[in-house]
Amino acid sequence: MTFPSQRPRRLRAKPALRRLARETRLGPEDLVYPLFLREGIEQPVPIDAMPGQYQHTLDSIAREVEEALRVGVQSVILFGIPLRKDAQGSGAWADDGIVQQGLRRLREAFGDAVLLIADLCLCEYTDHGHCGVLEGQTVANDATLDVYQRIAVSQAAAGADVIAPSGMMDGQVGAIRAALDREGLTDRAILAYAAKYASAFYGPFREAAGSAPQFGDRRAYQMDAGNVREAVREAALDVAEGADVVMVKPALAFLDVIRAVGEATQVPIAAYNVSGEYAMVKAAAANGWIDERRIVREILLGIRRAGAQMILTYHARDAAREIPCWEELG
Ligand code: PBG
Repeated sequence: MTFPSQRPRRLRAKPALRRLARETRLGPEDLVYPLFLREGIEQPVPIDAMPGQYQHTLDSIAREVEEALRVGVQSVILFGIPLRKDAQGSGAWADDGIVQQGLRRLREAFGDAVLLIADLCLCEYTDHGHCGVLEGQTVANDATLDVYQRIAVSQAAAGADVIAPSGMMDGQVGAIRAALDREGLTDRAILAYAAKYASAFYGPFREAAGSAPQFGDRRAYQMDAGNVREAVREAALDVAEGADVVMVKPALAFLDVIRAVGEATQVPIAAYNVSGEYAMVKAAAANGWIDERRIVREILLGIRRAGAQMILTYHARDAAREIPCWEELG
C-alpha cells in the first residue's frame, strides 16, 4: 500500500518547493523572434491577423530588435517581402535584397549581441508564390537547389549567422552546406525546417508575407499531417546532410512529432509556434475569453516539455517581458 506515505501534493505546497521540483524551464534566451521586413514602405504596416506584429521598415525593425534584446531575446529570424516579385524570385539573392539590407543594418547596430537567422525560401519572392522554381505546374526540386545555394551564400555574405531553409526540397540542406563551405563560410550554421507540414496554421503568415500560392497548394512538397515516422526520416536525412539544428513546424498540433524527432536525433530541436497558433491566442484574448499571459506560458512550456530546445514564436518579445512575473502565475 503506497497511500498515504506517497503524497505528491507535498511538493506543491510552497512556491519555492514547486520551483525546485519543476522539470522544465523557459527563459528569453530560448526564444527566437520572427520579424518581417518589407521593401519600399515608409512606415511599419500592421498585420491584421497577427495583432502586435508588423511588416517592418529598416528603421522600425532596428527599434524592434533593440526592444527584444532589452528583454533578453537574443535571436531573430528574418523574412523579406520584396517590392517586386518575379518568376525566379530574384529578390531573394539580390545583394541589395531587403533581407540582405536588414542583416547588414542589424549587425551594424547591434554587433554580436544579436544572433541573425535568415529564413531561406522563394515563396515570398516569386510571383507564383511557390517555394521553388516552376517547371510547368510543378515545383522542380533540383533546379530549386541551385537557387537555394545562391540565396544561402548571399544571406551569409550579408551577415547571417544561421541559414534556415524552409522550402522542403529534397537535398536542400546538403546543397546549402556545400555552397557555404565552398565559399569558406564553414562557420555558418544550418537550422533546417526538417519536418514542415502542409498546414492551415500558416494562414496569417501568408497575409504577412504576401506568399499565398497563386495556384494549387504546397502538399506536393510539405508533409502530410498524418505522419510522424516520416518526420523522423526527414530529420535524420537533414542531420546526415549537415543540419546543425532540426525544426518541427507547426508546434502545437505536432508535439508528438517534436518528441519523436528529439528522441531519434542528437542535434538540438527547434519548434515553430506559427502564425495561426499566435492568431488564435490573440483573437481569444481580445475577446476576453482567455488569460493571454497564462496561456502563452503554458503553450511555450508545453513545447519545451515535448522536447524543443528553442522556440520560434511571435510571442517572443512580450513573453520575455512576462517571464520574470511567471512565478506568480504558476
Ligand atoms: C515559407 C514559410 C512559411 C512559414 C515560414 N516559412 C509559410 C508557408 O510555408 O506557407 C510559416 C510561418 C508561420 O505561419 O508563422 N517560407
